Amino acid sequence: MAVRERRRVLVRRYSLFERVVHWAVAITFVYLMLSGLALFWPPFFWFAHVLGGPALVRIVHPYVGIAFIVALLVMLGIWAKDMVLDRLDIEWLKAVPRYATGQEEGVPESGRFNAGQKLLFYTQIVAGILLLLSGIVLWFPMQFTAGLRQASFIIHDLMAIIAIGALIVHIYMGLFYIRGSLQGMVEGVVSRAWARAHHGRWYRQVEGTSAVITEEAHD
Ligand code: HEM
Repeated sequence: MAVRERRRVLVRRYSLFERVVHWAVAITFVYLMLSGLALFWPPFFWFAHVLGGPALVRIVHPYVGIAFIVALLVMLGIWAKDMVLDRLDIEWLKAVPRYATGQEEGVPESGRFNAGQKLLFYTQIVAGILLLLSGIVLWFPMQFTAGLRQASFIIHDLMAIIAIGALIVHIYMGLFYIRGSLQGMVEGVVSRAWARAHHGRWYRQVEGTSAVITEEAHD
């Protein structure tokens, strides 16, 4: 039987380090979300039992918060240069209605990240920092005034709602709207077609470099 040879072209999107940092942020955030909901919203109190009991959750939540912020700041360090909004990003934002309805015409090509991803990233960074600052006040309440404690409660809840909302959009985009994204964050590579279709400017930058890998597949 004749052996058919196919060539599969993949593009390296995330290094191992970037993926480890991303999943550290994701896992710590999901723990914080579940334990936070358990502690502060009675309908979700049963989550506390799933996570090892209310007393344990109360102790562990702030420490995981510290791990989250450390991972988030490392993420900021490695991706800051790719997250700068440029002129074409502004054009992209103006074309959001067309992007959201699946019309490609008139939507400028994106760099490594599109403007929507960049804005979501800044939202998570700002929310993360405010969650940390307000969380420190709630962690050591006796060290702060009653006014600051009350303000911190409101800020912590508000930022948690914003961060969870941003995560829901992020997961929907990454898993369901833009198919093939998850492979990038799990295996580190995406198909060439994906790279061209969703991040055309980025693809042209890496084209011709070792980021583009050609695999021979036989069947
Ligand atoms: C918990 C489940 C999560 C899933 C399933 C998930 C999935 C993904 C996927 C598939 C990508 C690749 C997108 C691409 O290459 O275009 C990605 C990228 C990224 N993720 Fe997540 N992620 C999660 C949590 C988080 C959290 C909690 C944060 C931050 C607080 C975060 C921040 C980012 C950022 C900044 C990027 C790069 C830009 C972007 O794609 O938005 N992720 N994620």
